[in-house]
Amino acid sequence: MSFKIPDASVWVILGAQWGDEGKGKIVDLLSEDADIVVRYQGGANAGHTVSFDGKTYVLHLLPSGIFHKNVVCVIGNGVVLDPSALLEEINIIKNAGIDIKGRLLISHNAHLIMPYHKLLDKLYEQGEEKIGTTGKGIGPAYMDKYARTGIKVADLLNKDTLCKKIKKNIESKNEILEKIYHTEKLDVEKILNDYLDFAEKISEYITDTAIYLNKAISDGKKILLEGAQGALLDVDHGTYPYVTSSNPTAGGASTGSGIPPTKINGVIGVIKAYTTRVGEGPFPTELKNEIGEYIRERGAEYGATTGRPRRCGWLDIVSLRYSIMINGIEKLALTKLDVLDELDEIKICTAYKINGNITERFPTDPDTLSKVEPVYETFKGWREKISNVNSYCDLPDEAKQFIEAIESLTNTKISIISVGADRKQTIFK
Ligand code: GDP
Ligand code: IMO
Ligand code: MG
Repeated sequence: MSFKIPDASVWVILGAQWGDEGKGKIVDLLSEDADIVVRYQGGANAGHTVSFDGKTYVLHLLPSGIFHKNVVCVIGNGVVLDPSALLEEINIIKNAGIDIKGRLLISHNAHLIMPYHKLLDKLYEQGEEKIGTTGKGIGPAYMDKYARTGIKVADLLNKDTLCKKIKKNIESKNEILEKIYHTEKLDVEKILNDYLDFAEKISEYITDTAIYLNKAISDGKKILLEGAQGALLDVDHGTYPYVTSSNPTAGGASTGSGIPPTKINGVIGVIKAYTTRVGEGPFPTELKNEIGEYIRERGAEYGATTGRPRRCGWLDIVSLRYSIMINGIEKLALTKLDVLDELDEIKICTAYKINGNITERFPTDPDTLSKVEPVYETFKGWREKISNVNSYCDLPDEAKQFIEAIESLTNTKISIISVGADRKQTIFK
């Protein structure tokens, strides 16, 4: 029987690796019969690609359900919202003929990304401890949120509060900029005017989305919670400090949306048939050779947000098992299987060797992780084009063996197999 998300249920769909697993494609696909899609963390650091009818869109803040006219899209409280990026995206979507009237809601509790967050993000990255961030102001915005000095989306609704908070924040940021980074002071008037303008344009979307979502659950709606980034980039469970500053993991879906954990029915982990990572940080199965370059070119592995080349390597079951454990993943969606079409041999890392000892445990600390040696199992490639295959039984035997090996090594069912970027290039298993 092919997999379908049951009606009247809430499912989290998240990246189980280091991001860019194809979440946009899978969320768009599963949105077809969903009522609501919610982004619960991160911000415009995300780049979620959706392809259909010969067109391709990259979403940074809008949930990937936006292309289905009956879906309401919610930007949850856990997101850090850059209003300029959002308005740009809304424009692109409207110009593409997509009507968003009554279909976009923004949590009043989400925090705003301010110009100084983006500036500080770039300045922090000039230091020795580079993370390789996207430069979208994510870390600095969450710093202010947790320091309890941040500016919330709700503040856009009150001109006096907004002006007061912006002025106060700029005062303290200017001290840092001048005294530590010796850069120019921020222009208070310009920022004030820009944000007053954003307030006018965004106000219509702002509401208490936690109340909306909990009512929708009572009304029997089908809700998808769309993760950004990936579990291994989680600030608590990832390869800290080489992480993003939010919780892409399943727990974040609850805190970032206001949907209680007891109301979440399942978690789908999206994985690539190999692994990629952008930015700094340990990556045990990275291929710094011609196979890695081949995968990058064949898989078009360049950042959807920054255009940076993605580091490529073999599928890593050790990190995947950890990710499945942390997130409670019950089903996997496997993407980009077609990228491996031409390879004679495909490897899967099944264990790590640390100081001569074999382990199946995933060490998240970068010192240890950078020293592990992957232990591989080798599979025969299928050497055949699979991007037009639309049923599991028509896949080459070697591809099925590869898929079933992942299922057995992770003890988790693969319910969706993606063999191309287009919405239609999907096999339900
Ligand atoms: P996300 O951030 O997880 O949504 O993933 P990205 O959009 O950043 O990166 C995934 C890339 O792979 C995009 O360019 C997608 O269009 C593309 N893609 C998704 N699924 C497949 C697939 O099965 N095969 C191929 N060849 N490309 C895919
Ligand atoms: P999607 O949702 C892949 C990475 C950055 C950097 C680290 C911290 O498209 O999968 P940040 O700007 O968040 O402070 O950067 O996280 N990163 C991503 N990598 N996909 C993403 O999003 C990412 N968002 C952030 O490259 O290593
Ligand atoms: Mg991406």
